[in-house]
Amino acid sequence: MMKRLISAGLFLLLAVAGSPVFGQEKKHDHGGHHMTPEMKKQHDTMRTIQMEWTKAEKALSKQDMKTARMSVEKMVVAGAYMLQFQLHKNSENHEQFIELTEEFRQRLNKLITSLKAGTFEDAQGHAAAVNKTCDNCHLAFR
Ligand code: HEC
Repeated sequence: MMKRLISAGLFLLLAVAGSPVFGQEKKHDHGGHHMTPEMKKQHDTMRTIQMEWTKAEKALSKQDMKTARMSVEKMVVAGAYMLQFQLHKNSENHEQFIELTEEFRQRLNKLITSLKAGTFEDAQGHAAAVNKTCDNCHLAFR
């Protein structure tokens, strides 16, 4: 039991240290200021989205629609906070950011619908559309 716990802990540690998110966090510079609770909430929101998206894509690749759907639903819930984001980059285009957030939500909901219907190819198409929204928004605002 103890051994299993230790190896699970070690695995988690390695997973965190090896993840690209961790590397970015170290490079990420907020001008030497301490992170405010709002900044932390923003980071946590995007990390939840990233984590659930990794799970969803993995489940989808195995045609496990139910697991994929549960993760995408968590992304919709976490994504609601994106409307409150204080942008560090291109903050003057906040309206465009809100539009992209709305598009993101719509694409996630289409994906959920196809996962509920169990139509694998549709779901793959909607997942690709979600990936495009991640990239589009990051290009402008991350
Ligand atoms: C509508 C805009 C938008 C969409 C869509 C979006 N992101 Fe982000 N993302 C951001 C912004 C803005 C940041 C920078 C947040 C900050 O610095 O506070 C960010 C940061 C991140 C980060 C870095 C987290 C950290 O430590 O700060 C990851 C990882 C990430 N996004 C993953 C994703 C994934 C995966 C998707 C799609 C499934 C996605 N994002 C969709 C806007 C978006």
